[in-house]
Amino acid sequence: MKILLTGANGFVGSHILDSLCAKGLPTAILLRQTSDTQFIRHRLSDVEVRHGSITDPPSLQRAMSGVSHVVHCAGCIKAQPAAQFYDINQQGTRNLVEAINNVGAIRLVHISSLAAAGPATASKPNRESDPPHPVSEYGRSKLAAEQEVRTNCRAQYVILRPPGVYGPRDSGFFSVFKAVAHHLLPLPSRRQALSLVFVRDLVGAVLACLEHSAAAGKTYFVASPQIVTARQMAREVVSQMRVWTIPLPLSPALLWPVCVAEEIRARLTGRARMLSLQKFAELRAPGWVCDPALLRNEIGHESGTTLEKGIAETLEWYRKERWI
Ligand SMILES: NC(=O)c1ccc[n+]([C@@H]2O[C@H](COP(=O)([O-])OP(=O)(O)OC[C@H]3O[C@@H](n4cnc5c(N)ncnc54)[C@H](OP(=O)(O)O)[C@@H]3O)[C@@H](O)[C@H]2O)c1
Repeated sequence: MKILLTGANGFVGSHILDSLCAKGLPTAILLRQTSDTQFIRHRLSDVEVRHGSITDPPSLQRAMSGVSHVVHCAGCIKAQPAAQFYDINQQGTRNLVEAINNVGAIRLVHISSLAAAGPATASKPNRESDPPHPVSEYGRSKLAAEQEVRTNCRAQYVILRPPGVYGPRDSGFFSVFKAVAHHLLPLPSRRQALSLVFVRDLVGAVLACLEHSAAAGKTYFVASPQIVTARQMAREVVSQMRVWTIPLPLSPALLWPVCVAEEIRARLTGRARMLSLQKFAELRAPGWVCDPALLRNEIGHESGTTLEKGIAETLEWYRKERWI
């Protein structure tokens, strides 16, 4: 077995790498010359680094040499312009699948997203058999990437769709911790229910799906069964950080001008921002909930970390690394 991991230096990928190394699995990582290696420096002596990009087919072809299993975690989560989502998520996946087919690799675990499936509420959570209805260019590009895999991949493939992922090294939900550290309690819509997954639970699902025979050809949501709201998450952060805060209501009406301003800023500077008109479409959705039962029933994997425990571990890491 020889595993190639893409996106290894990113938030999710670096945790997958830690786990592959801890299990002693022979691993190569695809890195760009420009990739920031701050999260994986301690692993660089354990793995083979293969330089290349998923948007550069010849480099991918070289990186695939001798590879039997691929974990595809590289992806674009913010883009300017929006076409970049498709260049990296869809075309990059198409290039990777072509390289997998050329080398005759056995299995691909592809990290997609709940955004590819679209919004859903707690009363009717997304199930794998539901027709997808993404509401953002990010979600549509992740769905297009899934379709590249389903249509063209000759290796056994498994598609994993996590919702929002949080944990040590995450810079997305970090904005909540940072706001609380500045004594602000962000209070988004009280109605938007969320599935979430702690990063280590997602990694467990990836490793289970690398070999489990029942996973071949399947698509699974990977999420905690605990459904929360962004308000609950923010309140949990406050209670664990033990600081006084001033409530900052973030209704869609208030978020809209902020997203417009960030969109204009991104267009003027050419640099992608986390908040954008695309992000607004996701923020105003009625909910982002999925049902993780299929993964539990077929593969035996459960994302069991509670919000309380996941936030405690994340907070400890942010403090240790002096992010806050
Ligand atoms: N974080 C979440 O909440 C979440 C939720 C659902 C799904 N996901 C999915 O999980 C995956 C990882 O997300 P993340 O949060 O870990 O993002 P991240 O920290 O931004 O990492 C993205 C990774 O993709 C790599 N990458 C981007 N373009 C590339 C290219 N052209 N060639 C090779 N590598 C490239 C980046 O490398 P560089 O450093 O060189 O740019 C980086 O390693 C993505 O597919 C994302 O869609 C994430």
